[in-house]
Amino acid sequence: MAVDPGRPPSPRRRRPLGADPTAWDEEYRAGRLSRLHGLAEAPRYGIIAAWLRHLVPDGGTILDAGCGEAALFAHGVRERPSLSYVGFDLSMVALETAAEMIGSADMTRVSLRRAGLADYEPAPEDPLYDAVVLTEVLSYSAESMTWLDRYRPWLTSGGVMIVTLQVPRRPDSGAHGPFNALRAVLDGPAWTLLDSAMLTNPRTSNAWSMHVFR
Ligand SMILES: C[S@@+](CC[C@H](N)C(=O)[O-])C[C@H]1O[C@@H](n2cnc3c(N)ncnc32)[C@H](O)[C@@H]1O
Repeated sequence: MAVDPGRPPSPRRRRPLGADPTAWDEEYRAGRLSRLHGLAEAPRYGIIAAWLRHLVPDGGTILDAGCGEAALFAHGVRERPSLSYVGFDLSMVALETAAEMIGSADMTRVSLRRAGLADYEPAPEDPLYDAVVLTEVLSYSAESMTWLDRYRPWLTSGGVMIVTLQVPRRPDSGAHGPFNALRAVLDGPAWTLLDSAMLTNPRTSNAWSMHVFR
């Protein structure tokens, strides 16, 4: 089931995005996600990059699940040439832009794939991942937290999951479902929480709940 990720629906938005690749392609074609490369989003990637610097060893591999246009590569991977980066997303349009933004010089250590969170499988040549990042992707599907366990067998022994969710703004937002489900997952015995951060932007009233766990 598709849910609203917390932002009031734009009058231009004709249907919920959910896990619909065509709807996401339209969003990217219309440039409605270009804000992800803007100043107001940089602190979110900055915190993730700091966690990656601390937790992913040189030579490691990062899986960016729902990578969009791979903004995370620019913020946290480009600066470390020994890292490999695998990004996947539902939107082919986003992946084409991601390839352009990463550039051919870095593509030797990058693999971009079209897949959904519920059915992604690593390629046979992939090593285990040192970090699986799910940033601003789990709010769009009500059942998304049930997919987290799929990723555990693909982590190295010291590997980590990094999850961020935008804090829902409206009391009736469907994004409260995934938001509360993540809290329940992290309160439970299945995962060990290593660190959390709350990021708020008083200028835009956006807030992000950010967690790293294994
Ligand atoms: C708000 S964008 C965030 C992109 C990227 N994680 C970032 O922070 O820059 C949400 C992305 O999640 C992707 N997405 C949504 N549901 C997905 C699913 N079920 N499987 C894979 N990707 C999904 C969309 O295509 C979109 O690129």
